[in-house]
Amino acid sequence: MTREIRLIDKTFVPYLREDQLLKRIGEIAAQIRSDYGSEKVLFLSVLNGAFMFTSDLMKCLDGDVELSFIKLSSYEGLESTGKVYELIGLNQNVQGKHIVVIEDIVDTGLTVERVSNMLKLQNPLSVEVCTLLYKPEAFKGDEAPKYYGFEIPNKFVVGYGLDYNELGRNLKEIYQLKE
Ligand code: IMP
Repeated sequence: MTREIRLIDKTFVPYLREDQLLKRIGEIAAQIRSDYGSEKVLFLSVLNGAFMFTSDLMKCLDGDVELSFIKLSSYEGLESTGKVYELIGLNQNVQGKHIVVIEDIVDTGLTVERVSNMLKLQNPLSVEVCTLLYKPEAFKGDEAPKYYGFEIPNKFVVGYGLDYNELGRNLKEIYQLKE
């Protein structure tokens, strides 16, 4: 595995190797496949961070699988005090479907909660979350993600789709911020 890397002003150290990631992703895929049996599942991958995880997860899943990519965008409401959130990229009906939302990381859990709540308005059969990384110490939601690859401490990580100021997404492995 490569050593420390430098991105902009920060140094990161190796944290999860590619073989560890791929082994665990195979296990998650097997778990999903066994839970849904022959039922069709629509996977919704949240861009940008989840692209690499999604690709490797999809390669481990056989059977009928649908995949779309979505993005949560936010803008300041005209009169409201807070931000308004919008799901973009969802160009198919989710009504009556089993949905699995794919995330790179669940930190506070706010992003995935917003995405799930917006999807639930369209009456899917079910909505579950599958995230590669999960930071339980930072999590503020009600329900932990059903599928996750690794529980990690509340420290910043990059690589394998995750960025630091848009850099680091291309790294094959996950790196942790050096203290
Ligand atoms: P949330 O706090 O669960 O809503 O996380 C929001 C988003 O912040 C995630 O989808 C990531 O894009 C980003 N994020 C959270 N923690 C990290 C990290 O350690 N490294 C890189 N991005 C992160």
